[in-house]
Amino acid sequence: MNAEFNACPRLRREGGRLRLDGAALDDIAHQFGTPVYVYSRAGIEDNWRRIDAAFGARDRLVCYAVKACSNIAVLDVLARLGSGFDIVSGGELERVLKAGGDPAKVVFSGVGKQMWEIERALRAGIGCFNVESAAELAQIEQAAGDLNRAAPVAVRVNPDVDANTHPYIATGLRDGKFGVGIDEAEALYDEIQRSPLLEARGVDCHIGSQVTDIAPYREALQSTVALADRLARRGVGIEHLDIGGGFGIAYADAGPPPVEDYIAAVVDAVGARPYRIITEPGRAVAGSAGLLLTSVLHRKRNGGADFAVVDAAMNDLLRPALYQARHDIVAVRRRGGETRAFNVVGPVCESGDTLGRAHLADARRGDLLAILSAGAYGFSMAGNYNSRTRPAEVIVDGGEAHLVRLRESIQDLIEGECLLP
Ligand SMILES: Cc1ncc(COP(=O)(O)O)c(C=O)c1O
Repeated sequence: MNAEFNACPRLRREGGRLRLDGAALDDIAHQFGTPVYVYSRAGIEDNWRRIDAAFGARDRLVCYAVKACSNIAVLDVLARLGSGFDIVSGGELERVLKAGGDPAKVVFSGVGKQMWEIERALRAGIGCFNVESAAELAQIEQAAGDLNRAAPVAVRVNPDVDANTHPYIATGLRDGKFGVGIDEAEALYDEIQRSPLLEARGVDCHIGSQVTDIAPYREALQSTVALADRLARRGVGIEHLDIGGGFGIAYADAGPPPVEDYIAAVVDAVGARPYRIITEPGRAVAGSAGLLLTSVLHRKRNGGADFAVVDAAMNDLLRPALYQARHDIVAVRRRGGETRAFNVVGPVCESGDTLGRAHLADARRGDLLAILSAGAYGFSMAGNYNSRTRPAEVIVDGGEAHLVRLRESIQDLIEGECLLP
């Protein structure tokens, strides 16, 4: 596809209007209001298929990381492609089941699984628990005993590599909370071998998110593959290597390698070993397929700076405030004249409530802006700070826009709260 917008390949400017897969963004704003997240079904499918196809003839399972964008309509689109799912909570498991995902293709990651979540996952028959500590392994064994069914497990190895990404999304460093060191992992596999309630299925590792360099994958795989080899020599028969997610995507300040290059490096590192390769991409599936549509409320000038105050804010899209992430922001209808830089800011009472910078000829009330590459860690990280209601979500499918999540109402916001007696 000949993409005009790197950060959102399915976006086109036609006759002065910005269209996502043929659907005009100004029509979507009109119909559903703003702020609104808009996803392209074809974009999600293309991204998933590209990752899957990059493995060629290699046995693999692409487990979409639900946390990136967890709307059940998105999960349904992926389940229909045969996707597996990487979950980190009981809530995510329920979403996958509701969307028709196959529990046997679910891997369960996360450092703090609770007993009810483990039991629910065991009852549902998930494919594998990615175990992050000895204490968690003991808990899983206990749940397996209580339910009288063996638990499939992989140990998440912390390979101690620097993924060269923002520190908040680097997860492969020894001093972080994720996984266990290689030596401890070996000891955990001994325990798994001893237990009739635990079945070793694989070795797991995840180094971080928005990783824009392939070298850290090679480095991490060296130690995980070596561990798998040692396990094989000791008769621990694992079936898969889970390399996690993390493939970087294009943002205003990032132009990572194509996803095929990451996967080629992974396939190369695993070589002729007979393991199925599992990967857990989230951002690389949903990120470029979605955008956040917002309206200008006011224009103002303070000091030497121009501001476009918009109706989306950090509670809707947290990434710029949390990670200093930089999203491309473009006008839905371009105004004539010379452009200048505007700081695009939301109404929340924090200086960090800055969504990014846009080059605009002007920013007048009602003008629509599209914040690109917002499909991943956009809505799924949205909250209600400043008692703001969360946006609607829309999927464009074959040129038609479908509402897949109602905008939250003020009633939704206070539902469940009550006054003191
Ligand atoms: C264990 C695990 N797997 C997969 C992912 C997905 O990462 P990404 O969206 O960067 O592909 C994450 C993200 O934090 C994760 O923690």
